Amino acid sequence: MVSYKTLGLVNTKEMFKKAINGGYAVPAYNFNNMEQMQAIIAACVETKSPVILQVSKGARDYANINILRNMAKGAGEYAKELGYEIPIVLHLDHGDSFKTCKDCIDNGFSSVMIDGSSLPYDENVKLTKQVVEYAHQFDVTVEGELGVLSGVEDEVSSEQTHYTRPEEVVDFVSKTGVDSLAISIGTSHGANKFTPQQCTRDEKGRLIPPPLRFDILAEIEKRLPGFPIVLHGSSSVPEEYVEIINKFGGALKDSIGIPEEQLRRAASSAVCKINIDSDGRLAMTAMIRKVLAEQPAVFDPRKYLAPAREELKKMYARKNREVLGSAGKA
Ligand code: G3H
Ligand code: 13P
Ligand code: ZN
Repeated sequence: MVSYKTLGLVNTKEMFKKAINGGYAVPAYNFNNMEQMQAIIAACVETKSPVILQVSKGARDYANINILRNMAKGAGEYAKELGYEIPIVLHLDHGDSFKTCKDCIDNGFSSVMIDGSSLPYDENVKLTKQVVEYAHQFDVTVEGELGVLSGVEDEVSSEQTHYTRPEEVVDFVSKTGVDSLAISIGTSHGANKFTPQQCTRDEKGRLIPPPLRFDILAEIEKRLPGFPIVLHGSSSVPEEYVEIINKFGGALKDSIGIPEEQLRRAASSAVCKINIDSDGRLAMTAMIRKVLAEQPAVFDPRKYLAPAREELKKMYARKNREVLGSAGKA
C-alpha cells in the first residue's frame, strides 16, 4: 500500500471548498505521458493554479500505474523546482469497478471516480457506496456520477444524453457519501460533441451548439447547496487546432466543442472541477503534424514533442486564466 500522502499529493477536499467559495473551477487535465504532464505542471505553476492530474483506465493500461504514480510524485518536485508549490491531486478518471478504484487507492491516488452512471440507479448507489467506504479509510476522495453523457469515454460509448435528474441527487449523495458529483447537462466526451444538425449558425456561418442546461445545474445547486459539482466532456475543440490538423493531412470532421463562455459561466457556480482531455490531444496532434509536414527530415521525437509540449502549456495556461478562473488560486 502506497499512501498519496507520502508522494506529496493532496485529496480534493480543501481544493473544492476553496473553488466553490471563490467562484472558479479546478482544472482536471488528463495525461498519459511525460510531455503532457510537464505541460500541465508548467502551465499551472506559471498561473499559480491548483491542478488535478487525471488518469483514465486507458491511460493506466498505456503507461503503467507505477510509472504514473512516480510521475505524479515527480510533478510536485518539478513544480517546486519551477519555483512555486501548487496543490496536486492524482485522480482516477471514470473508474469502472471497485477493483480498479481499490487498485488506484492502494497505489498512491488521492482521488478516484467511480462511474456507475450507466448502471440502474440502485446499483450505481451500491457500487459507489462500496468505493466510498474503502476510499475514506485512507482519506481518498470519491467522485460519483448521475446522468449519462453522450460520446466515447474510455471503452464505453453512449449515443444518447440522459440529463441528470435533480430529484435524485440528494438521495444519491446521502446514500453513497461521495465527495463530489459529476452531472450531465449537455456536455459530452470527444471532439464531436454535437452533430451539425443539432447546431444553429451565426452570421458568419459558424456552427453554434445548443446551450448547456443551466436550468438543471441551478436546480441541482438548490438541492445540494455548496456541494462540489463536476463537469466532464468540457473541451472547447479549438477551431485553430482542427484547421492545422486538417491542413497537414488530418481528417477531422464536424468537430464541435463547448463554447468557452458557457464553461466560464459553469465555473462561477458550484461546478468546481472541469475535465479537459480532447483539447490537449488536438493541440499536441496539431503541432506534431505541422512540424513533421514542414520539416520532413526530422526524426528525433524531441524535435516535434517539444513544440507540442510548448503549445499544450500555452493552451492550459490560457484556460486557467480565461476559462476556469483558477489562475492565482494556488
Ligand atoms: O473521458 C475520458 C477520457 O477522455 C478517456 O480517455 O482514451 O484515455 O480512455 P482514454
Ligand atoms: P473531453 O473529451 O471533452 O476533453 O472530456 C474529457 C473528460 O471528461 C475526461 O473525463
Ligand atoms: Zn469524462
